[in-house]
Amino acid sequence: MCGIFGFTTENAKNAGEVLIDGLSSLEYRGYDSAGIFTPESGAVKAVGPASHLKRKMPAGFFGRSGIAHLRWATHGEPTEENAHPHTDCEGEVWLVHNGIVENFKELKTKLAAAGHTFASQTDTEIIAHLVEEHLKTEPDFAKAAIAAINEIRGTYGIAMQYRADPSKIVVARMGSPVVIGIGEHERFVASDPSPILRHTRDVVYLEDGEVAILTPESHEIYKLHGAPVERAAERIEWDAAAAQRGGYEHFMLKEIMEEADAVRNTSLGRLIEKEGMVKLGGLESVEEKLKQVKRIILVACGTASYAALAGEYMIEEHARIPVEVDIASEFRYRTPVINDDTAVVAVSQSGETLDTLEAIREGKRRGALTLGIVNAVGSTIARETDAGVYLHAGPEISVASTKAYVSQLTALALFTLFLGRQRGVSIEEGRVIAEALKALPERIEEIYKRTKDIQRIAKKYADARDFLFIGRKYNLATAFEGALKLKETSYVHAEGCGAGEMKHGHLAMIDEHFPTVAIAPSDSVYEKTASNIQEIRTRKGPVIAIATDGNEEIKELANDVMYIPKTIDMLTPILAVVPLHLFAYYFARQKGINVDRPRNLAKSVTVE
Ligand code: AGP
Ligand code: GLU
Repeated sequence: MCGIFGFTTENAKNAGEVLIDGLSSLEYRGYDSAGIFTPESGAVKAVGPASHLKRKMPAGFFGRSGIAHLRWATHGEPTEENAHPHTDCEGEVWLVHNGIVENFKELKTKLAAAGHTFASQTDTEIIAHLVEEHLKTEPDFAKAAIAAINEIRGTYGIAMQYRADPSKIVVARMGSPVVIGIGEHERFVASDPSPILRHTRDVVYLEDGEVAILTPESHEIYKLHGAPVERAAERIEWDAAAAQRGGYEHFMLKEIMEEADAVRNTSLGRLIEKEGMVKLGGLESVEEKLKQVKRIILVACGTASYAALAGEYMIEEHARIPVEVDIASEFRYRTPVINDDTAVVAVSQSGETLDTLEAIREGKRRGALTLGIVNAVGSTIARETDAGVYLHAGPEISVASTKAYVSQLTALALFTLFLGRQRGVSIEEGRVIAEALKALPERIEEIYKRTKDIQRIAKKYADARDFLFIGRKYNLATAFEGALKLKETSYVHAEGCGAGEMKHGHLAMIDEHFPTVAIAPSDSVYEKTASNIQEIRTRKGPVIAIATDGNEEIKELANDVMYIPKTIDMLTPILAVVPLHLFAYYFARQKGINVDRPRNLAKSVTVE
């Protein structure tokens, strides 16, 4: 998600200048629009980067306090109306927000019934109206704001102001990062320290479920339910660039460590576990059409195409609809057979990959229903498809796609459950899938605790120049993705293949200098893959296995084992890929390669 920045001072500084300058250092977090508010000069908003906003600000734009925002849209297209800051009916309460208000629809309905009118399609705006509602009975701005925040569910990093109390900023954190900067007679709040460091290095990090009340001379922190929190300030020694990476050396590692949150945010507000159902607002307009769909073609490129491959297996096994995956650059030219009961579904992080976009256009030309499973809200593929499911994974900066991949798999699992429940999948089966999806983020966080061991294995094989990745069923996709991640960041030869394909050629390459990564979770095809590992070992090929916690026998088979927690078969690719992303990162880093900017590659391939 995007970036918030707030400032209140008694010094001779113009908050307008401080805020607009600070926004530019948050742009790495992605943006599609920006905005700023000061009590003295009001609000200015613009589509595009902070520089577009700066150009729109009138001469003399001034403030002794203010809030600003770089938006990465989740609810409502990236337009000026939807840009933050947002306000209430009277233009008195103003706020910026980073995250997703999960219960915004029910709150919006309640507020509309109370007479509130809304200027945007965002989930964020309802928070300003909630505070307005509370101010009718609670004149203290901070108390009214905290009461309102207690009503919202979801993720947020919030900074809020009230015209009648201009030097005060109320801040809240749940699931989105918030840091407070402590200066002489001034305070800052931001999504990360990068815009603060040019003013002060003394900061306090808010934790989930905490609020803070900032004035130029104070920063009081409380738990949401009111208990005061004492927290000593810490001094940041990083530079702004390191702060943008959250202290990680590369965005790739930062984004791998965000995979648990990405999976959490993709499912947020969409799982109805007790009914074994999913709620996908982006598909509501085509829900009836989807019931008539008899065939699905998933079109994608690169990593996204591997997510699509796992999605093919998910949908066929659980929704019983024929599915095929087409590499987008092939689909465009092979004169595909499309009927009016065919859906062409694009999977794309950027939503701008030209081959995938042209594949969608080809499907549309031939009369297919077109959908997009996309991360970037308002991107071309999102706008040109009939409907879709946004990933909500937040901006992905590193060229190597990691958190978007696990988010794509999660979205495809949600899509599978959605289609399956339309086609007679039972509530019980739905519950199993929904509950397993809900448990995934914690399972991924379990794998993070094993990072040191994964780093050790990457170091052990540092001299290898060739790798084979093998997997079966849902983890054929994992084999392809693991190989691509390694070769695009380390430039070594790595290829994925079906474990069952070994004997049809790949085995000839194997010797003691040619390691194999075998993805072998305890699933329905484990025994088969275990035999393949045996075949490789008898030819002296080293094997690194991905195995499920508790599988002791694999230690006798493989040279090294990276363990993952248990989950249902269709979700194993989401867990199995996390150690492979970490393996690729540490393997590349020890070669001194700039893993965020691999040679010859671009983050989004918008050319043929
Ligand atoms: C993945 O690490 C690569 N950067 C690349 O294969 C990427 O997945 C592909 O270009 C598709 O991009 P998209 O998801 O933005 O469409
Ligand atoms: N959900 C809010 C919106 O769509 C905030 C998105 C963000 O984090 O930038 O405006």
